[in-house]
Amino acid sequence: MTDNQQTNRITIRQLSKTYPGGVRALNQIDLEINGGMFGLIGPNGAGKTTLMRILAGLMRPSQGEARVMGHDLHDSSGRQAVKASLGYLPQDLGIYPNLTGREFLDYIAILKGITSSLERRRQCDSLLETVRLTEVADRKVKGYSGGMKRRLGIAQAMLDTPQLLIIDEPTSGLDPEERVRLRTVLSEMAKRCTVILSTHIIEDISQSCTDLALMYKGQILFRGSPSTLIGQARGKVWQITTSGESPNNGLSVVSMLQLENGVRYRVVGTPEPHHEAVLVEPSLEDGYIWMLQQARIAVH
Ligand SMILES: Nc1ncnc2c1ncn2[C@@H]1O[C@H](COP(=O)(O)OP(=O)(O)OP(=O)(O)O)[C@@H](O)[C@H]1O
Ligand SMILES: [Mg+2]
Repeated sequence: MTDNQQTNRITIRQLSKTYPGGVRALNQIDLEINGGMFGLIGPNGAGKTTLMRILAGLMRPSQGEARVMGHDLHDSSGRQAVKASLGYLPQDLGIYPNLTGREFLDYIAILKGITSSLERRRQCDSLLETVRLTEVADRKVKGYSGGMKRRLGIAQAMLDTPQLLIIDEPTSGLDPEERVRLRTVLSEMAKRCTVILSTHIIEDISQSCTDLALMYKGQILFRGSPSTLIGQARGKVWQITTSGESPNNGLSVVSMLQLENGVRYRVVGTPEPHHEAVLVEPSLEDGYIWMLQQARIAVH
């Protein structure tokens, strides 16, 4: 293992988090993350944001061990050290509405300890360009669209070339063109640092991550490469054409297409024989649906 991989390494052992109200958001998680781009996926409430906040040093775990780049997150000195080399985009980033985009970035750059105004200017200009906000940089943030605010949030996370970039749903609210652009930007970043991103847009993971974790109810349901997750659903994904009625229960409908004289469904599961289903190649989304379907069956 190279030095770079060693310092990028994140090690989590038996990590749990119970919120004051009693919600167990993380339940004895074991996870190792090395360099490159790591995807976190899972349904609402699975624990993705909780895990990211702990890794960002913003919240203490209830139990277990978490080390980021050699620093122990149980110690306040460890959390401080992680924060110093971290870029973080929270799921709900509050941006002072009366600042312009450029002023906001400059303010965050000061908080990150970039003391030279010339250097701040250089970085802000370059990042505004990266997220394509140069044209609106001197407009107040309150006049930005949702996607523009999100892109400004991504820019602030990338200030001062972090060693670890944790971004919580970076692509939510971005139009398809900007999403594709951002994927490229993040892939470039991931060549130099560890990027952990959570998303509900499964396609973003399949395009950019080599490694991912699927979370469910505070646990890791799957850990591996996108292609291995796709493989989980092989032989379970079918195309069924009906005259209109939806297929039997026990199947998850992934998509449907209105035809001239019927409806074509793509389903995950085991169809009944009368459906005359045709087996199709699975996608990453099918793998995700299949794993969750099995987990829910196991719970009931
Ligand atoms: N501050 C909090 N106080 C109490 N419970 C919380 C708090 N934050 C999150 N939770 C609970 O912890 C669980 C995990 O929440 P978390 O936000 O980590 O999920 P998530 O995977 O990020 O979901 P989403 O996809 O909706 O963003 C949920 O049951 C949630 O209700
Ligand atoms: Mg979340």
